[in-house]
Amino acid sequence: MNDRLLFVCLGNICRSPAAEGVFLHQLKIQGLEKQFVVDSAGTGGWHVGRPADSRMRNAAAQRGILLPSRARQIKAEDLQTFDLILTMDADNLLNVQSLAGELGQIATARIKPMLSYASKTSLQEVPDPYYGGDAGFEEVLDLLEDACKGLLDELKSQA
Ligand code: 4NP
Repeated sequence: MNDRLLFVCLGNICRSPAAEGVFLHQLKIQGLEKQFVVDSAGTGGWHVGRPADSRMRNAAAQRGILLPSRARQIKAEDLQTFDLILTMDADNLLNVQSLAGELGQIATARIKPMLSYASKTSLQEVPDPYYGGDAGFEEVLDLLEDACKGLLDELKSQA
């Protein structure tokens, strides 16, 4: 099983901490927490050390989902220690792929767009909710609940 997962967005205060929290929530419901290491990171470093955006935390809390993470920036070592890196948008994907390219063969993590695991949307990117209204945070959670379910189903089927 690919059991070490890293969710990545730009700031690591909205989308990737939400993905981490949603995935952890689904693991807990299924009693699978011990089989996975789950973390999140940003390609940018502006918000390092901060908790997830309060709008994202409040929207998640309404669904019974806690977002425990503190922002950090992705580092080269992540491409060795994680099995699978899930990116939220096309910029994140390019940035992580380029970091992997710089590292060469030691970068063993697979890198996949998060919404490649979604089944209820034709979107390929999780929209950045940071500068928008409340509906954007709900849309992020809807997309991530769908994609996390698809991701977990696939990982379980490979176990
Ligand atoms: P995230 O959202 O990448 O989903 O965490 C953002 C958070 C902050 C900024 C941009 C996107 N920012 O420009 O500060």
